[in-house]
Amino acid sequence: MAAAGRAMSARAMLLASIPYMTARIFQIPYTYSFPVIPDRKFVRLYFYPLNYTNPNFVVSDSFFSVSIGPHTLLNNFNPLLTTQAITKEFSINISTNTLNLTFTPSSVKNKPFAFINGIEIVSTPQILPMPSTHFSWSGRRD
Ligand SMILES: *[C@@H]1O[C@H](CO)[C@@H](O)[C@H](O)[C@H]1NC(C)=O
Ligand SMILES: *[C@@H]1O[C@H](CO)[C@@H](O)[C@H](O)[C@H]1NC(C)=O
Ligand SMILES: *[C@@H]1O[C@H](CO)[C@@H](O)[C@H](O)[C@H]1NC(C)=O
Repeated sequence: MAAAGRAMSARAMLLASIPYMTARIFQIPYTYSFPVIPDRKFVRLYFYPLNYTNPNFVVSDSFFSVSIGPHTLLNNFNPLLTTQAITKEFSINISTNTLNLTFTPSSVKNKPFAFINGIEIVSTPQILPMPSTHFSWSGRRD
């Protein structure tokens, strides 16, 4: 149970720096660089598809890609096409000390933008039990 406690505190720390109900909106590619200890990580991305305060940001216009280094996690993703609150989870073996998570708006719309509400990065050994939804970096369920 100590391991689960560590996972909870790691989660709380990351969510505190990127609050849930506030969206970060990107109109140009943006990269978060997280210092990490190299190992297999779960990366969870949280999306709340709302129309954010600026009327220019209509969520149905939001198509974007998310990648970690050369690995594409989401390609031309539109959060509205699924459900209301979305969690996307990926399992990625990180071999470097930096995890670069890049959001790239797609140019399919006149005013492309990307958004994110929360990012969570957890070392796999800290997760008890294993989550039921498990995506590899290619986006396939495995
Ligand atoms: C991650 O990659 C490293 C280097 O490629 C490898 O040695 C290690 O076994 C991998 N770990 C997992 C959990 O897949
Ligand atoms: C966002 O605004 C557009 C345009 O006003 C509207 O059609 C759409 O239903 C709104 N979507 C949400 C999730 O509120
Ligand atoms: C992450 O991005 C920084 C800044 O662009 C770069 O210096 C670093 O090499 C990148 N690391 C990885 C593992 O991609």
